[in-house]
Amino acid sequence: MKPIEEAIPVVEMRNIKKNFGAVQALRGIDLALHHNEVLGLVGDNAAGKSTLMKVLSGAYIPDEGEIFLEGKKAHLSNPMDARRQGIEMVYQDYALANNLDVAANVFLGREVVRIRLGPIGVMDHRHMEQETKSLLNRLKIDISSVRQKVERLSGGQRQAVAIARSTAFNAKVIIMDEPTAALSVAAIDKVLDLVRELKAQGSSIIIISHRLEDIYQVSDRMIVLRQGRKVSDTPVEGDIHEFRERVVAYMIGARDDFREKTVAG
Ligand SMILES: Nc1ncnc2c1ncn2[C@@H]1O[C@H](COP(=O)(O)OP(=O)(O)O)[C@@H](O)[C@H]1O
Ligand SMILES: [Mg+2]
Repeated sequence: MKPIEEAIPVVEMRNIKKNFGAVQALRGIDLALHHNEVLGLVGDNAAGKSTLMKVLSGAYIPDEGEIFLEGKKAHLSNPMDARRQGIEMVYQDYALANNLDVAANVFLGREVVRIRLGPIGVMDHRHMEQETKSLLNRLKIDISSVRQKVERLSGGQRQAVAIARSTAFNAKVIIMDEPTAALSVAAIDKVLDLVRELKAQGSSIIIISHRLEDIYQVSDRMIVLRQGRKVSDTPVEGDIHEFRERVVAYMIGARDDFREKTVAG
């Protein structure tokens, strides 16, 4: 039998609601993420995927609902606060500082200070470079020099740096919102390999993608949102065609596993 700690989800969101004016972006969503699991989050445009993940990463405060991290009730008041509690959101490559090199980007916001003279900190570049090199090696990311400016990298390499950066903070949970959007097919495969590598190394991951084949390839389980509600929460299995048909049926509202019985039945 598994120890009890392992049975407790890393993340549990309960009855999360969020409105923007008259728009009910999230209408009471439950989501659990288990240890070392890759959870795919899918749904049509405006289904509420990004909003739900912004709630989990502290960018939005929900109107209602609770979040538990490893069984303990959490209050995530802003992204820094969520990060301190082990929640990392990978934004697309625009979150990187293009004029800085790879190592500086990986360490952005948590630069290693060698000596501190009052308010003046001298950053330890050698240490940051070494750490970045070993991180990229460990994640099998192919970038020739950590001293390259990020603006010189390809889209796929930039996404890899953004993902590597998220792992550098000892995250419990890594959230990726459309990490393969706007990448070439070869670059998409590399990002998916990186997701598999992170899982192999013990990470727990939530991945949003409008590319159902991405979700199919890397996810253990999938949640489908439609109009701010969860309509499906199932293991990813079966062949790709069956999977695609099933997901589309949920996305367009032809299937719904959580719909309350209406008076009409
Ligand atoms: N900051 C915001 N202000 C107003 N409306 C928003 C905001 N963020 C999201 N919405 C609305 O909430 C709904 C869900 O959006 P979003 O979570 O971005 O969907 P998805 O990521 O699934 O495409 C949409 O109707 C969207 O227009
Ligand atoms: Mg979105």
